Amino acid sequence: QTGYTSLDYGFVNTAATKSAITFIDGDQGILRYRGYPIEQLAKNSTYLEVAWLLLYGELPTADELGEWDDRIRHHTLLHEDLKRFFSSLPHTAHPMSVLSAATAALSTYYEGQSDPNNPEHVELNTIRLLAKLPVIAAYAHKKSIGQAFLYPDNSLSFVDNFLRLNFGNLAETYQVNPVTSRALERLLILHEDHEQNASTSTVRLVGSTGANQFSSISAGINALYGPLHGGANEAVLDMLARIQDSGESVQRFVERVKNKEDGVKLMGFGHRVYKNYDPRAKLVKESADEILAELGVHDPLLDLAQELEQVALEDDYFKERRLYPNVDFYTGVIYKAMGFPTRMFTPLFAIGRLPGWLAHWREMQYDPQTKIGRPQQLYVGAGERNYPGSV
Ligand code: SDX
Repeated sequence: QTGYTSLDYGFVNTAATKSAITFIDGDQGILRYRGYPIEQLAKNSTYLEVAWLLLYGELPTADELGEWDDRIRHHTLLHEDLKRFFSSLPHTAHPMSVLSAATAALSTYYEGQSDPNNPEHVELNTIRLLAKLPVIAAYAHKKSIGQAFLYPDNSLSFVDNFLRLNFGNLAETYQVNPVTSRALERLLILHEDHEQNASTSTVRLVGSTGANQFSSISAGINALYGPLHGGANEAVLDMLARIQDSGESVQRFVERVKNKEDGVKLMGFGHRVYKNYDPRAKLVKESADEILAELGVHDPLLDLAQELEQVALEDDYFKERRLYPNVDFYTGVIYKAMGFPTRMFTPLFAIGRLPGWLAHWREMQYDPQTKIGRPQQLYVGAGERNYPGSV
């Protein structure tokens, strides 16, 4: 018997994970971090303030945030040996592979300081990961374009430091574009958590075995890499570029998707939970036109994406299946306008999601009810039988 799913037997896994971090109503298109609507946080907060909210459950005071921000700034340096790690990799290495490998390697510098049962280790390694993951991502970017790594500049904000590490160079002083800075801050906030998605569930599952934060986050990065999950933001841009380069009409492409020709999908559409417009996609779409205009960029791929969305939303195939744009549909056009190469889009998602991953890892770690993860199985294979000649 092959191809049976547990649902064929009316078997539904009811062992839902209990969490107090993020609330999603997929039918209404509602997303709240610790009770605060994503729309308000994206408009008014900052990446680190939201990270604190996700980790500790309440908004920080100005002093708490200031001290935390300062601590994070002073942990951005990577060990010089770890910087040499990058030279062992081909310049063609995908930044997501580099990110997960370097994050796992990071734990080798903190053995003896990574006991999941030691709250001081957990706090310190939360700071280390928040501080160092953006640096690792920027170094993966620099590696891929053959440029020298810069040292972090602790006088800059979290986002501006990250932008400078990506786009600055040793030959000139880098000026942060405030439009890019604010837009990236907002996009990172939109990605910070999303309850039990595949990569967060991976982080919780790996952490439930007693693995430390570095190993658990590295596993989450690998799960996010897949094109059905975080890798979709890169796949959307590849899809739009292919349509544009081929000269194929949007209508013809949509027909191929509906006919499932060669397994083609409308990347950036559909969601396991949202059967309505993803509230994050709505916010990204609303700001895309404005950000590109402020950056002085006109990208025909944005027009193409908007045409594709309109055709799909008016088509019964998508309506019947309740397929709407998700967070990945418009983000790539904005990242591209900021100057990021397509293969850096999913690392940007990972930096955004890191606070959520860490918050869920800690919620799991500090819950006395936590048991080692072991998803249920419904056995649908062969019954007992004997090896030839054994009886
Ligand atoms: C993220 O879980 C999270 O919260 C994830 C995330 C987060 O913040 O962590 O929100 C981030 O991963 C967003 C999703 C990014 N992925 C993509 O954009 C890839 C394209 N989307 C699909 O692969 C799909 O929609 C999924 C994987 C996202 C969701 O799959 P589902 O809900 O399991 O849907 P399904 O596979 O059961 O499909 C139901 C029907 C099928 O058609 P029929 O068999 O009924 O004929 O809808 C079709 C599917 O073929 N379908 C699509 C489609 N998505 C579903 N058809 C064309 N294009 C698509 N994108």
